[in-house]
Amino acid sequence: MVFRLPHVLAAATLALVPVAAQADQNLIDYRNSVMESIGGHTTALVAIVKGNVPFTEDAAVHARAIEPLSKMVGHIFPSDSRTGKTEALPAIWEQPEKFQQAVTTFQTAAAALAKAADGQPRDLAAPVSDLAKACKGCHDDFRKKD
Ligand code: HEC
Repeated sequence: MVFRLPHVLAAATLALVPVAAQADQNLIDYRNSVMESIGGHTTALVAIVKGNVPFTEDAAVHARAIEPLSKMVGHIFPSDSRTGKTEALPAIWEQPEKFQQAVTTFQTAAAALAKAADGQPRDLAAPVSDLAKACKGCHDDFRKKD
């Protein structure tokens, strides 16, 4: 029993490294899934507002869907999601107040868009444009350039 203990500890230590790294990657992957959902609704809505597709009856669904997703952006950047396959910049955690400002600007724009959801597609042009600016503002400062 005594002889075995170091082996058990060694095995536990080895196991912890990949598990911790995997936990970070799970958070990163989840974050990107949420971002992809936001991106999907935004891209679809822009296509409707521009008149590239005729599905005006879908506009309100996309416009409303972004607001609850925008709330998730407030918690999908925990400090243990920094390391791994990610395009998130360290500035997110190094300048938390500035990052929080970008989150709030985005959430405010998403709430305004949801409020305008029942209007005609042309009424959505301004709130969609404000929203897109909020995306770009955060990506410019806090996401790695392609
Ligand atoms: C508060 C900051 C912030 C806001 C606001 C924000 N994003 Fe992001 N977004 C990021 C960061 C940081 C990443 C990179 C995440 C990672 O790789 O871990 C990202 C990733 C993405 C991705 C995934 C791209 C990829 O590499 O797979 C898409 C799509 C996306 N964002 C779209 C949007 C859209 C559309 C909006 C606005 C409607 C938006 N984002 C608003 C910070 C933001």
